[in-house]
Amino acid sequence: MNLLTTRIDLDAIAHNTRLLKARAGTAKLMAVVKADGYNHGMNQVAPVMAANGADAFGVATLDEALALRAGGITQPILCWIWGPEQDWAAAVAADIDLAVISPHHARVLVDAPPTSRRIRVSIKVDTNLHRSGLDEEDWDEVFSLLRDAEHIEVTGVFSHLSCADDPDDGETDRQAEVFRRSITRARELGLEVKENHLCNSPATLTRQDLHFDLVRPGVALYGMEPVSGLDHGLRPAMTWVGAVTVVKPIAQGEGTSYGLTWRADSDGFLAVVPAGYADGVPRMAQDHLRVNINGHYYPQVGRVCMDQFVIFLGSNPHDVSAGDEAVIFGSGGMSATELADSLGTINYEVICRPTGRTVREYTGEGQ
Ligand SMILES: Cc1ncc(COP(=O)(O)O)c(C=O)c1O
Repeated sequence: MNLLTTRIDLDAIAHNTRLLKARAGTAKLMAVVKADGYNHGMNQVAPVMAANGADAFGVATLDEALALRAGGITQPILCWIWGPEQDWAAAVAADIDLAVISPHHARVLVDAPPTSRRIRVSIKVDTNLHRSGLDEEDWDEVFSLLRDAEHIEVTGVFSHLSCADDPDDGETDRQAEVFRRSITRARELGLEVKENHLCNSPATLTRQDLHFDLVRPGVALYGMEPVSGLDHGLRPAMTWVGAVTVVKPIAQGEGTSYGLTWRADSDGFLAVVPAGYADGVPRMAQDHLRVNINGHYYPQVGRVCMDQFVIFLGSNPHDVSAGDEAVIFGSGGMSATELADSLGTINYEVICRPTGRTVREYTGEGQ
């Protein structure tokens, strides 16, 4: 038995993929599996997504793209964070599509010596996120450069939304307007741009009118509801559990963990869970975390340490003992979203947290 485990439910991944595929309608589904599949294990979840409707995959880095290809994924893979000084040509050789995220990136590709394989690119336009992507004043120059380079094939344009998790925010419509303008301008300049995409998870679920040719959800594939207050029927795939290592008594007035910042207000028992900030439990989680053991919640108390944290069992009425499983979040415990809310963060960050000594285990058949 591992002391610290993330249990990944492949049937939940399959369910969420099918749900998003159905919502995509006639648009293709690009499954975003960056950051090791949002910390679910990219090469374990991607085949399940492919079998349940993913038409393409999106990743951040070249290494992620190459690892996904090496893992046996045959669908198109788009990589959107890369540096010209990196070996991007190796990715092209592995049939990876590159995002053109700045004029400099475009020039590097245009100036590259042609090889037997054309470089397939998707042009990222900045529609107001002000992160990466081409500003409108650069469109004409870059669209023309790419159009004239025979060794480059432009598949389409894409952009990323800044406020889609709030369906009432008018910014999404403003971004969509700029995005439509970029498609029109690309076509006026002679680029075909057949496959254009804008929607992340929240927009895939709430803005069918903005699906264009493909949708690009990430977090929803892993079962996280991307719009606060709504329930789209997604199933969380990740549960983080630790095996209790020690149960011991504490007397009223005694403290626990560094600084003795918490003291027992009655005689009782403490249990130690082997998960600390080196494993991804934020030190600021102190007083915000409740773990579930055999169906009962217990508060985390005192400072979170590097390798462990402590919970208070009261008089231990349910006989918690060493070896029992403590659910930090997920099935049977606080949801990742509840924990995120209590920590003042987002469920995206919570599912990316488990690390360090955590071992992944997979359940389900991916069906
Ligand atoms: C360019 C791009 N597209 C799509 C996504 C997926 O977003 P989400 O997880 O909100 O669906 C991300 C994630 O940040 C992204 O960076």
